Amino acid sequence: MRSLISVSDLKREEIEEILRLAKGFKEGKGEKISASVVLFFAEPSTRTRLSFEKSARELGMETYLVSSSESSTVKGESFYDTLKTFEGLGFDYVVFRVPFVLFPYTEIADSLNLRLINAGDGTHQHPSQGLIDLFTLTEHFGDIKGLNILYVGDIKHSRVFRSGAPLFKMFGAKVSVCGPSTLIPRDIKVFGIEKVFSSVDEGIEWADVVIWLRLQKERQKENYIPSESSYFKRFGLTPERYEKVKLYMHPGPVNRNVDISYDLLYTEKSLIQKQVENGIPVRKAIYKFLWT
Ligand code: CP
Repeated sequence: MRSLISVSDLKREEIEEILRLAKGFKEGKGEKISASVVLFFAEPSTRTRLSFEKSARELGMETYLVSSSESSTVKGESFYDTLKTFEGLGFDYVVFRVPFVLFPYTEIADSLNLRLINAGDGTHQHPSQGLIDLFTLTEHFGDIKGLNILYVGDIKHSRVFRSGAPLFKMFGAKVSVCGPSTLIPRDIKVFGIEKVFSSVDEGIEWADVVIWLRLQKERQKENYIPSESSYFKRFGLTPERYEKVKLYMHPGPVNRNVDISYDLLYTEKSLIQKQVENGIPVRKAIYKFLWT
């Protein structure tokens, strides 16, 4: 039984299959799936939770929502034993978001008679968001080979970067990063990135697309930046930078006037709303891919 915990679980042809399925769903094609899904969210979410729930319902699936505060994890049950309970109750899929890195994830996934879908595990992976971002850029450009893609912001804590960057590279794009040195991981070279820009203005000049990321204050254990206003001036999408940037994205949620100027979320250069919209067909495609 297949699970999707990390983008590294997928071969290129499988990713192409997911993109093809997503395109089909967007065009109104695709069959129903007679199955049940548990949505277990131990961290806040708006778009991921709702799009997994809505896409499951549109596919004809039964959905069951459990938040961690209502589950027996508050009484000390481990996450693994919670998954075993879902297995015992006969569910087909579990979509989960947890604040920790699921490790060793292949052993956990292989030991369960469930299709696990990782909707974000700590700073590790958020594969459906990476696939949405790849789908959105493929839809916009046709082919992303040779495209220069720049991630800006809190790279250190970003599971979105760790999911998107390998996918973009697999499809021939070049990936660079930019952010405060305190928020660039020490092992950044392992991601095969082109450049680490300390100047966002130089990065914007290099990039065909910029992906701004949120400062993940909930994961920051130290003071990584002097202040949000100085961060915004140095790394944010300001009205001056808007004139130079070609195209931009943000996985959401956005902190206005920290990541992106309050009036620049929904503009002709922004793919942010498109990313949200594509959450439905891409997440339907993930359900379908894991079902067959
Ligand atoms: N992009 C993303 O994961 O958003 P949510 O936290 O709202 O699900």
